[in-house]
Amino acid sequence: MTHDPLRTKLCDMLGIEFPIIAFTHCKDVAVAVINSGGFAVLGEAMHEADQISQDINWIRERVDGKPFGIDLVLPASAPPGGSVEDLLTKIPAEQRAFEQEIKKKYDVPDPKDKPDLYSWGGLNQAMARAQLDVLLDEKVPVICSGLGSPAFLLDAAHERGIKVFGLVGKTRQAKRQLEAGVDGIIAQGFDAAGHTGAMGTFSIVAEVAAIAGDTPIIAAGGVTTGRHLAAALCLGASGVWTGTLWLPCRESDNDMIIKEKLIAANSEDTSWSTSISGMTMRVLKCPWTEEWAKPEAPQVLPPPYQMLLSSDYIQGANDFRRDDLMTEACGQGVGSITEMKPARQIVSDMVEEALTAFERITGEDE
Ligand SMILES: Cc1cc2nc3c(=O)[nH]c(=O)nc-3n(C[C@H](O)[C@H](O)[C@H](O)COP(=O)(O)O)c2cc1C
Repeated sequence: MTHDPLRTKLCDMLGIEFPIIAFTHCKDVAVAVINSGGFAVLGEAMHEADQISQDINWIRERVDGKPFGIDLVLPASAPPGGSVEDLLTKIPAEQRAFEQEIKKKYDVPDPKDKPDLYSWGGLNQAMARAQLDVLLDEKVPVICSGLGSPAFLLDAAHERGIKVFGLVGKTRQAKRQLEAGVDGIIAQGFDAAGHTGAMGTFSIVAEVAAIAGDTPIIAAGGVTTGRHLAAALCLGASGVWTGTLWLPCRESDNDMIIKEKLIAANSEDTSWSTSISGMTMRVLKCPWTEEWAKPEAPQVLPPPYQMLLSSDYIQGANDFRRDDLMTEACGQGVGSITEMKPARQIVSDMVEEALTAFERITGEDE
């Protein structure tokens, strides 16, 4: 091959060696991927402003000037403000009673403290805005919006030399964001961990790539091997955005119970459920998702109320390390993750496997 197929316009835009982006909540994973030639985006939607600022500086001290991104959620549908306590009072009695029934049935412990999800930026717009202000002040190289269009922040970001990427689950969302002038689009398909729409990864990546012009498209949803990376580039993407892949890696600070569950899991162990946040989300199946899937379950609440309702179950399960209850966002590509590898090895295996796939396609392996 005369041209390196892994050298894409995303690599040129970000100044990275390989077109592999890790989405992670773990700073150690982010730094390991960045220092292995990839790019990392740290999910900060659950942190308050001070913590975000500390995390940004922690990363900066370890990557020798290399770029990185920070991801927030900016859902336009979130209430404008209001304390968590106010929001909690609006949870209807029927859904609260069902939550209590599940807790009793499975002996779910109460959380040790306030659930982490109470500081999720998707709960109200004022929280998300305070988080965003830190990213603008810190002039982080890339801001990514996991939920909601980032069009409103483009001018402020670009004035500060910040690139803005939007994550979409529908082609029409991509079209609107491209017209607004985002610097990159993450086209995320049904296979993905976390909040994800109904469009398959193959379909959304191909459709969005076809309308993107020079803007790099990054494929997400089910990407866990180098073969997925090669396929994504063939579909017209300039790189991949991966989440599940890093959860069980060596550097990850995830609980060992979750890491082991992920290593053992296949795609059928995931559930595409609204029961966690009120929006469709792919997670590892657990009693909470299974109970809400039953016909007798009440209607799931709209965001952000369902997230507040599920947060006690999730935090109680995590605090007491109850492997029968614990869950985590998890994509369908989990079936290809069979070992707990260091991040650097994940990057190099992915690169090697993608190159082998391209050689096989072009007959250069013969
Ligand atoms: C534990 C976990 C939490 C996630 N939380 C967020 C989030 O806060 N914001 C966001 O944009 N994406 C979030 N995602 C989705 C990822 O950004 C990514 O799009 C997704 O993991 C891609 O699919 P994959 O897991 O199959 O690689 C999360 C993913 C995981 C695994």
